Amino acid sequence: MNDLTVAILAAGKGTRMKSATPKLLFEAAGRPLGTWPVATALALRPARVVVVVGHGRDGLQEVLRARFPRAPLVFAGQKEQLGTGHALRCALPFVPRSARRLLVLCGDAPLVTPDPLRRLLAVGRRRPVAMLTSVVGDPAMYGRVLRDERGRVVRIVEHRDATPQLRLVREVNPAVYVFDPAWLRSAIGRLRRGNAQGEFYLTDVVELAAGTSRGVADLRVPFDDLRGVNNRAELAEAEEALLDRIRRTWLVAGVTIRAPHTVRLEADVRLARDVEIGPGAQLLGRTTVAAGASIGAGCILRDVAVGKNAVLLPYVVATESSIGPGARIGPFAHLRPKSSIGREAHVGNFVETKNTVMHPGAKANHLAYVGDGDIGRRTNVGAGTIFCNYDGFGKWRTVLGEDVFVGSDSQLVAPVTVGDGAYVASGSTIVEDVPAGALAVARARQVVKPGYAGKLRAKLAARKARQRK
Ligand code: UD1
Ligand code: MG
Repeated sequence: MNDLTVAILAAGKGTRMKSATPKLLFEAAGRPLGTWPVATALALRPARVVVVVGHGRDGLQEVLRARFPRAPLVFAGQKEQLGTGHALRCALPFVPRSARRLLVLCGDAPLVTPDPLRRLLAVGRRRPVAMLTSVVGDPAMYGRVLRDERGRVVRIVEHRDATPQLRLVREVNPAVYVFDPAWLRSAIGRLRRGNAQGEFYLTDVVELAAGTSRGVADLRVPFDDLRGVNNRAELAEAEEALLDRIRRTWLVAGVTIRAPHTVRLEADVRLARDVEIGPGAQLLGRTTVAAGASIGAGCILRDVAVGKNAVLLPYVVATESSIGPGARIGPFAHLRPKSSIGREAHVGNFVETKNTVMHPGAKANHLAYVGDGDIGRRTNVGAGTIFCNYDGFGKWRTVLGEDVFVGSDSQLVAPVTVGDGAYVASGSTIVEDVPAGALAVARARQVVKPGYAGKLRAKLAARKARQRK
């Protein structure tokens, strides 16, 4: 829409968050809060989106530019936070003269969808102001919408300025407006700060518009998607609503989610058909899961790529890693960053991997630390094996060829290489390279003393008897 500009008010301090972090940089479903309304605004294809920034502006600008690199975003600075009316005034110099309609949203309303905005734009043609309103059960701290005896909107009263009588009004202002920019330019200078907060209220513009011959247009919509986030309780509620939407999208797209309300799927997660997700799982960041894979109960995956038909048994914790098709992981496995688990490889319970490549078919099934390693195809890492990758100063690599067998309870002291097909005896401490096809035994030779067990018991019993006396 070439004649449409959107302004997003995002300069406020967010005092009620009680935080050193600016409000709009708080995460909601895996994305900074302030990115949500911007995404919705861009869905309307406006000629320009002017974001008013002030408190925490550098962080917010950076986040928005990174998220929407090619979008027609412009930033307008508001040095002092003198209120929503002042914020919009700061945006006006950046609104192109060709703009016929100016849609205004608040940066702290992450749930807004394009639909009510499109409808408001249709209603607002040729009016100085069109605004959304909602009737709610509990009007909380929202501005109240006052109408005259003919039902026309005449004014908005902020909660803090409202008398007990006016606070009973249950029609509230979601703070979504469409302005005629030319009219707004002439009106906005008339705002005054004579109110409870000593601020220039954008809401006062509504009264100015109501006094014109063309008046105020309004559109009543359900409030659920229009809630603002002003404190952490509201953030938690808004996030839950976003997560619910995301879960619903994937359910409808062919993903099975058990006990959906316990599952966290962040906004940038991508899932294919016939993925199955167990209760309490959390898929975070840019995690992707290919068709037919299953993610067990309680798994926590951040920035992980899971391949087709892979099986993650319960309680796998994985970060910045990839899991190949048909691989089997867990239960209780820990994949730390840069673990690359190949096709049909196995990582079993109480195994920790880090910066390690496990080639297709490799296995580490029980109780192992596999750090800074390269494990060849079909190689088996026995129970209790430790890759000793750290000498207190640097990290070193352990390289195992293909079809290697590492017996249980072995230590591989890196840097060390074991050649293809070699065999490491259980309980070995390997400090030197093992050539392909060799057997390495690095432990004390076993001593067997026939019949000695009886003698040993007698000796120990006598000692215990002496100690009792
Ligand atoms: C505002 C409305 C209220 C409405 C509610 C809906 C006013 C005076 N009140 O109240 O009627 O019911 O939204 O959520 O408009 N901001 C700036 N610069 C400022 C002040 C605020 O950019 O100087 C931005 C904030 O970052 C925020 C938005 O404007 O994104 C709204 O500000 P906020 O302080 O949250 O207003 P509310 O008290 O929620
Ligand atoms: Mg607010």
